[in-house]
Amino acid sequence: MKFVSLLCATVAAGCLMAATAATAQEPIVIKFSHVVAPETPKGKGAEKFKQLAEQRTGGKVKVEVYPNSQLYKDKEELEALQLGAVQMLAPSLAKFGPLGAKEFEIFDLPYIFPCKAALVKVTTGTIGKQLFQKLENKGITGLAYWDNGFKIMSANKPLHATADFKGLKMRIQSSKVLQMRALGALPQVMAFSEVYQALQTGVVDGTENPPSNMYTQKMHEVQSHATLSDHGYLGYAVIVNKKFWDGLPADVRTQLDGAMKEATDYANTIAQEENDKALEAMKAAGKTKFYELTKDERASWRQAMLPVHEDMASRVGKELLASIKTETDAAKCE
Ligand code: LMR
Repeated sequence: MKFVSLLCATVAAGCLMAATAATAQEPIVIKFSHVVAPETPKGKGAEKFKQLAEQRTGGKVKVEVYPNSQLYKDKEELEALQLGAVQMLAPSLAKFGPLGAKEFEIFDLPYIFPCKAALVKVTTGTIGKQLFQKLENKGITGLAYWDNGFKIMSANKPLHATADFKGLKMRIQSSKVLQMRALGALPQVMAFSEVYQALQTGVVDGTENPPSNMYTQKMHEVQSHATLSDHGYLGYAVIVNKKFWDGLPADVRTQLDGAMKEATDYANTIAQEENDKALEAMKAAGKTKFYELTKDERASWRQAMLPVHEDMASRVGKELLASIKTETDAAKCE
């Protein structure tokens, strides 16, 4: 009930504000909601967009950033965007399945991107654009892809061999990619804002995320072991409500496009550094033992998880999977 009344109130307020904005030159308000902490690549990217958007439009636009699921949790935020209660989001690419855009789960496949260069080829190329097309009939327009690097695994026991995952309850995003099951673990879908407490109380034993999320959510304080596996990628799609975006004055939309391009360059430039800093900070905190896989262990993790690609091919699309493999194979990975 709370979510619905909040939604109605926000939509009503949104209509009222748009109406008065038109008459009294009130700024056009963009509510940018997201689920992570401000001190993350996405959090800083959102603030950068706010700064640039307000600057470039000379104050015609006001961006209100709501981090840490303050307004909406994972699932609710996509519904709120479609209803126009918020205007902008940057959800993880692994969370578009519930929206009916299951092709995006291809980004959540283990070891799908051998390196960052391979990922950039996909997100800045035809495939990236084609995937955004799939959102248009859902009332959503895709603006950009933001990076948050590769995931590491954590739990309260060493995770060296794949057998170490047997029977562990592992938190995952709302994606049907079940690499945890391939490792013999039990995948538990859970909203990001609930993960810390679930780890602390033992509702789940472990999880996967890039260091910047693990550190800023203090997961390292409740996880004694982490393995630097880079087994999967976490990136975002910056999306807007299509009706809102198409309804903007053309000059304002052009200025916002420019602001988004610059904020995207910024967010994708700082992502690696933010994750490196977070990893160092967690190591310095001394609560979590970080482990680097041996060559053989890394090979056995890959061998255990790669069959997931075949399992997911019909869901994400065999053609799409093949075209991503062609793109990533052609990428120059050092
Ligand atoms: C997660 O749910 O673990 C991440 O998608 C959160 C985020 O947006 O980085």
